[in-house]
Amino acid sequence: MCGIIGVTGSPDSITVLLDGLARLEYRGYDSAGVALQVPSGLWIERSARGTESLSDLVAALDRAPGPCGAGIGHTRWATHGRPSEVNAHPHRDCTGTVAVVHNGIIENHFELAAELSASGHELVSDTDSEVLAHLIEASLADGKALVDAVRACVRSVRGSLAMVAVHSADPALLVAARRVSPLIVATTDRIGFVASDVPALLGRADVMYVLEDGQVAEVRPGEIRVVGADGEISVPVELKVDWDLTAAQKGGFDNFMLKEIHEQPAAVADTLMGRLSPGGTVLLDEMRIDDDELREVEKVFIVACGSSYHAGLVAKYAMEHWARMAVEIDIASEFRYRDPILDSRTLVVGVSQSGETLDTLQAIRYARRWNAKVLVVTNVVDSSMAREADGVFYTRAGPEIGVAATKTFLAQLVALETLSLYLAGLRGTLYPAEISDLLDSMQELPAKVASALGRSEEVFNLAAAYAASAEFFFIGRHVGYPVALEGALKLKEISYLHAEGYPAGELKHGPIALLEEGSIVVGIATRTRLWEKMMANVAEVRARGAVVVLVANEGDEETGSVGDATLWVPSTHPLFAPVLDVIPLQLFAYALARARGNDVDRPRNLAKTVTVE
Ligand code: AGP
Repeated sequence: MCGIIGVTGSPDSITVLLDGLARLEYRGYDSAGVALQVPSGLWIERSARGTESLSDLVAALDRAPGPCGAGIGHTRWATHGRPSEVNAHPHRDCTGTVAVVHNGIIENHFELAAELSASGHELVSDTDSEVLAHLIEASLADGKALVDAVRACVRSVRGSLAMVAVHSADPALLVAARRVSPLIVATTDRIGFVASDVPALLGRADVMYVLEDGQVAEVRPGEIRVVGADGEISVPVELKVDWDLTAAQKGGFDNFMLKEIHEQPAAVADTLMGRLSPGGTVLLDEMRIDDDELREVEKVFIVACGSSYHAGLVAKYAMEHWARMAVEIDIASEFRYRDPILDSRTLVVGVSQSGETLDTLQAIRYARRWNAKVLVVTNVVDSSMAREADGVFYTRAGPEIGVAATKTFLAQLVALETLSLYLAGLRGTLYPAEISDLLDSMQELPAKVASALGRSEEVFNLAAAYAASAEFFFIGRHVGYPVALEGALKLKEISYLHAEGYPAGELKHGPIALLEEGSIVVGIATRTRLWEKMMANVAEVRARGAVVVLVANEGDEETGSVGDATLWVPSTHPLFAPVLDVIPLQLFAYALARARGNDVDRPRNLAKTVTVE
């Protein structure tokens, strides 16, 4: 996590840094800071007022002394050391001439800090990152150039790192280094940039390159020189960027989350575009795994975190049902520690919006070490996972800035269901005519998503009626279960209300004891295979005095008559139902969070891209 931005050669470095930080805040916002090369040396300003940090910085930068050379900025998601100004980046060395920003975790920082302190360095923060500035200081004192000092520094640290350093002896130079945590470098003919992610530089740079693990880049105005871990000059990989600046702006909405919720019809349509042929064939052009290899797969593991995990759960139902493949699903952070049995006939599907989530990245790396085939479903072209996988299925949802996943979740659902149909076709578990019918239903989804969104006001009004409630249960069966989990996660992360998601049939095995008169239970009661059983579970909670809100298909008055309130969605094939059923739950969570005055784009304690384990 944490966002990094660097610029050199720009006549307006401050604006570039502040815009970049604003666009990177989805990576964390516990504090923000910048270091600028000014005529008197290095000028550093930091603020640690959570979501207000960046506005503090905007005010402070008015006081920046004189014209600026290179500058670096950082927005933090705290791991080591509480969010405070002293722990905010950039960190300085003892001389005040070196400044460093860092994303990642330095696992041996205690050891390094002890050695540095013993040799006279004064470390002032509780962070793991500060050692970087002092390690560089030590190498500079030995006569090394900044780039060599950074390379030496990278060699002596263990763990993950994306960093940028500046030194006042060479005010136009940025030195960037990467191991595991992502970093891109970019240029125009007069300016040089470094950033954690593409949205920070949209509209600013002509060409962007991704730094590979172990590479170090010297970035000067209009010039980039990259060296590998061995010190040899490397040619960086140019990034394919097909997002434009408007995609990274709010476009008239109050916040990114609402904008992204409303972009869902397009996200689904774009993800399906060109992948479904009229004859009933699924076309997957980025698949670099042979059809024959896929036919031989004996077992599938899906690995993911958070909302991506919920999309993976839906895929398990689809893949097992349509493609008749045995599918296990794992929370990515647990996967490699349980000794899973993997070999060349195993397909591991990593699902990740960002393509950078470290838990998922490490899980797919582990799978590759065991010769499993790795396929990644991600929204970010050329992300770390996309580059390391054997095959990639890109969701085409466009950049998602709001921390809560919305449009990328829907795009993942349709991508994974398309993949399931592809596998079914390959393995002959469905007739072409059956696949063709299912593909026809899929093509109707964008319009149905738009129609579900057309009921936003109804959902907002209902949420207003429950604004004073403190606890919510979400229940569902079959593919309604992952929808329940996703509904609860959305509510937790942006409204900070207590919410639990359960398989409805499991409630009676314990959690039902929590229900009391007036508890709010949201049930996913669209017409899937287990509708009758679901309604029996709804009756159980009603009998305990719960207030029941049901997600039901438009026109299904029978279901509508059971609940205290109904959230209506269009009908579709039961396995596609999650794509529609989750929409009122996103809107419900959004409305409750806004009613409580929360910042939905930047919920407390969270970051969008989680690059720590
Ligand atoms: C979703 O709303 C969350 N912000 C979070 O659970 C997220 O889905 C998770 O961190 C996984 O991220 P990824 O898809 O980028 O790997």
